[in-house]
Amino acid sequence: MQDTSSTPRRLHIGAAYYPEHWSEEDWAEDIRLMRAAGFTVVRLAEFAWSSMEPAEGQFNFDWLERAIAQLSEAEILTVLGTPTAAPPAWLTQTYPQTLATDENGRRLQHGNRCHYCVNSPTYHAAARRIAGAMAERFGKNPDVIGWQIDNEFWRPCYCEICQVEFHRFLQSRYGDLETLNRRWSTAYWSQTYFNWEQIPVPRGNHNPGLMLEHKRFITHSYTHFQKTQIDAIRPHLAPGIWITHNFMGWFDGFDHYDLSQELDIASWDWYVGMGRNDYAISGAMHAIVRGYKNRNFWVMETQPNQVNWASINNSLEPGETRALAWHAVGHGADAWLYWQWRSAYSGQEQYHGTLVDQSGQPRPFYSDVKALGADFAKCSPVLIDTVPAAQAALLYSFDSRWAIQNQRHHRDFDYVKHFVHYYRPLAIRNISAAVISPDAPLDGYKLVVAPALNVLTEPQANALSEFARAGGHLVLTLRTGMKDDANALLPMRQPGWLREAAGAEVEDYYALLEPVAVQAEGWDGRAQIWGERLKVLDSENTHVVARYGAGHGWLAGQAAITVHNYGAGKVYFVGAYLDDAAQDALCVTILREAGIHPVLETPAGVEACLRVGADGHEVFILINHGNASQTVWLPWQACNHLNGQIVTHLALEPYGAAVLTLV
Ligand code: GLA
Ligand code: ZN
Repeated sequence: MQDTSSTPRRLHIGAAYYPEHWSEEDWAEDIRLMRAAGFTVVRLAEFAWSSMEPAEGQFNFDWLERAIAQLSEAEILTVLGTPTAAPPAWLTQTYPQTLATDENGRRLQHGNRCHYCVNSPTYHAAARRIAGAMAERFGKNPDVIGWQIDNEFWRPCYCEICQVEFHRFLQSRYGDLETLNRRWSTAYWSQTYFNWEQIPVPRGNHNPGLMLEHKRFITHSYTHFQKTQIDAIRPHLAPGIWITHNFMGWFDGFDHYDLSQELDIASWDWYVGMGRNDYAISGAMHAIVRGYKNRNFWVMETQPNQVNWASINNSLEPGETRALAWHAVGHGADAWLYWQWRSAYSGQEQYHGTLVDQSGQPRPFYSDVKALGADFAKCSPVLIDTVPAAQAALLYSFDSRWAIQNQRHHRDFDYVKHFVHYYRPLAIRNISAAVISPDAPLDGYKLVVAPALNVLTEPQANALSEFARAGGHLVLTLRTGMKDDANALLPMRQPGWLREAAGAEVEDYYALLEPVAVQAEGWDGRAQIWGERLKVLDSENTHVVARYGAGHGWLAGQAAITVHNYGAGKVYFVGAYLDDAAQDALCVTILREAGIHPVLETPAGVEACLRVGADGHEVFILINHGNASQTVWLPWQACNHLNGQIVTHLALEPYGAAVLTLV
């Protein structure tokens, strides 16, 4: 289950650097400061198309080669980005059909980013050419350790090419129109299609089947575009050189599991933005990215103190970047790169945080990074080839997220919030939890939680049932097992194919105007937003854990939460969207029953993560997420690799961390 084949040989720290913004005389001082900060890596070139190919087919890589070489002299390695998120002006002028069209049919302008049509054959050819030329030149350069394709894919295009491609895509999925019409119930509102060209590209709300397939089409478009570049690069790479793409946190414009398939490692761009880090939420995002490949990942970009795009671009607190970095490492990051190194004089991001300002001098924040660079160097040896432990897994489903977001039914029903509602009670107790696709293998986990698994296929249901039958603890929640993979209602009650495993089914579901009391043995709580009325099917083996109280005519006295003894395991069915305290109490019971223990007991606000090596050696990472000092008592004696001390308790400073191995 744990795969370390693509994890790098050290923990990396660095930044995105744009030597093309500066004259070459400036590089030396930049690189000196990077080295002094302990940098081991930079990412270059992901927006440098106009500098690398100033005219069609004329390449100029000499400057880039000199930059890579100068960095290498300072022992700083390079990740190269392909520059396709920012096409040069000659390209969009000569081939205006490569510009994307927005939802309202307007062609985009040159000079921002991601303004290309993802399905344009002309754009594919240009992308293949620049990516291939870069790889030919740098694929075997020993200082280039990895490649990033494009930068933060996101834009759907509505041009005519994309429409035709959409129809072709639907044809390959459904085969014939009769099938599509049936599976989408198109007789409804007279949508029936008589030829493929009649099928619209959805703008705003539309038929649920059409809406879901359009998301899959965007997934397919980017997978294909990415593959075009991977195929142009891969043949030129030396063995061991990896390819990634930098994803964005909760972004759901395409299925990230599909896009990750052709990548060697996943990476993502993690910004707090406005406000403060909530480590249960960011922990979930790290775990999600780790789940894309079930491998350690890179934080390819993170904020040097502040961003420029939030409504209030507040800074981190002194020391806070340390907590953010070790938190990421605790959840499986093997690299931490700031965006960006130095403030360019102009361009659209003048106010963004950097390590070095427009004058070339380090900003106050630089000292935090320098300290972190030294800490990474100390701890790198002990963390190599270790991966996060995981006793529990949560399933994260793009299909279900899309299906629910298109039809919330209650305006406050948010897939992500509901997901975090289950992740948080685990996170705050230091329970090691993975986040995986509903199609991923389930072996090795004691507990699997399937939050709002609205779209459920029969194979997924079979795997979940088998997991429980074999002794696992399975938690099903609201809206689960309602839809098939064309986003149509299943012809049976929820949880669909999981009814036998659940030992119960949903008689009806209610969007709640007012909270409804929920009573269990041991706690009283409230259901809010959503309540499902459960009916026990297998009364002999099913226990009603909680019932609704008075207050809602259809729910009063009915089962809200059940647990079914199923084979050697148990299946919980949680029909109520509980308030936080009740949710916490329920999760405590489930964790106890599943025999899951925290990585370590810590005071509130201090997190403990565990990374384990292939040889079984354990590394504990402790993070103080708060701005007050904390004391942590350890159940054993440990070496803290940040300062070499042998300790049985720790005084963690505000945003402090510790990296421990047992002695
Ligand atoms: C994104 C982009 C970067 C930069 C940052 C600013 O993550 O990938 O190029 O624009 O945002 O926060
Ligand atoms: Zn298009």
